[in-house]
Amino acid sequence: MASNLVYVLNGPNLNLLGTREPEIYGHETLDDIAARLDDRARELGLTIDLRQSNHEGHLVDWLHEAQAEGAKAVLLNAGAYTHTSVALYDAIKAIVTPVIEVHLSNPHTREALRHKSYIGMAAKGTIAGFGPQSYLLALEAAATI
Ligand code: DQA
Repeated sequence: MASNLVYVLNGPNLNLLGTREPEIYGHETLDDIAARLDDRARELGLTIDLRQSNHEGHLVDWLHEAQAEGAKAVLLNAGAYTHTSVALYDAIKAIVTPVIEVHLSNPHTREALRHKSYIGMAAKGTIAGFGPQSYLLALEAAATI
């Protein structure tokens, strides 16, 4: 069951976008990104449900919920859990809903601790390094699934 609903899940510290290390993540807030996504989603005939949590289990629960709700896709920026979370890896594997990994920065050009992605090992694809535009590009990808 694939609806026009796209979950946009954001992990730890992404609530601080706008003030958090702006030289890396830019000056746009998560609300700014949500507004841009909403505009584009409307044009694509999609609906966005954007959420953020600093807690790993919330992200696991929301991945399960995305499948239960018949979502078309999930855009997932798991923040630092990208590099640590076997639970998120398992959750992505456990659902059939396509998950697209998203990052503002390009983790591969940064510290070695960011080079491993548990999300990328389970996701359908990854878009990273384009700032807030990464989310828009991931939405375009979701629209084609
Ligand atoms: C991030 C990259 C991660 O390495 C980092 O822990 C984040 C943000 C990004 O969007 O560039 O919190 O996911």
